[in-house]
Amino acid sequence: MLEKIKNLLSQISSFNVSSADDLESFRLRFLSKKGMISVLFDDFRNVPAQEKKEIGMKLNELKQAAMDAYNRMKDQLQQSDDVKTENDLTRPANPFPSGSRHPISIVRKEIIDIFSRIGFTVSEGPEIEDDNHVFTKLNFAPEHPARDMQDTFYISRISPEDSNPGDILLRTHTSSVQVRVMENQKPPIRTISPGRVFRNEAISARAHCIFHQIEGLYIDENVSYADLRQTLLFFARELFGKETRIRLRPSYFPFTEPSAEMDVSCRICGGKGCNVCKYTGWLELLGCGMVHPNVLEACNIDSNKYTGFAFGMGIERAAMLKYQVNDLRLYFENDLRFLDQFKASF
Ligand code: PHE
Repeated sequence: MLEKIKNLLSQISSFNVSSADDLESFRLRFLSKKGMISVLFDDFRNVPAQEKKEIGMKLNELKQAAMDAYNRMKDQLQQSDDVKTENDLTRPANPFPSGSRHPISIVRKEIIDIFSRIGFTVSEGPEIEDDNHVFTKLNFAPEHPARDMQDTFYISRISPEDSNPGDILLRTHTSSVQVRVMENQKPPIRTISPGRVFRNEAISARAHCIFHQIEGLYIDENVSYADLRQTLLFFARELFGKETRIRLRPSYFPFTEPSAEMDVSCRICGGKGCNVCKYTGWLELLGCGMVHPNVLEACNIDSNKYTGFAFGMGIERAAMLKYQVNDLRLYFENDLRFLDQFKASF
């Protein structure tokens, strides 16, 4: 009996496992009900009484040794399994949270895409401008209130009392870019100017001191008000859907004559009236008009030969209408809970 125990002990210590099958055959061989150790325990009945104490102890030691070996080999297998899965090149990668585009970028890109399809180029210009490009050449009278400190951030003002074409300021609209295009290019001109603009306003849900605009300009021979209307109808339908209608209300801008403001039919109620459109069926989107002859002349374009139209809109305004987000401040706070909602949009 002692011989058998010794023999089994040496078998156990020299047993090697390299797979779960090996481990199972170890268990069957030594530890199962019909395994070799159980057989010895059965034989224990026949051991003479005076040897029972010693052999009993050895048997228990054998069983313990087999169980220890089993657990140790099981741990080893588990560890090498972990290593294998770490190196498994076919496993899918850990999920990588993807970012999202800012809603203003999404809408800006969409508007640029729409106008690119009908031949408009994109032009950009400086955010820090002079009075000449922002006001004077756009036919603003010297005493026009928009030049006032209340609205405009001045960087340097040559004479605090009177406006001066040399005054340096933050542009209040991107019409200044169109002046630069007209100064440098000959008609036909078809361009849109996206960019940041600055106005000295208290920040609230409806106003901000920084926002984004896209302004458009089309100058050629025989450009008519009908061209303006048709271009804007095409644009509104592309941006808000084929069913969209537009209406033009008379308005005033120094640089256009006639001038108008354009409303689009409310997408929520389809024009029937709801709380988004304040029960009017219409939402105001942009300003537009025929370029004033004084503006053309100021940029050395012959106003007897050429006519043109211009329009301008706030991108935040377009995004508000598109996404029904009614607080402007959300567009500037970069709160991920807000931005994450635009993941699905390209
Ligand atoms: N520049 C005007 C604004 O900032 C918008 C506009 C552009 C209106 C062109 C008419 C024509 O509000």
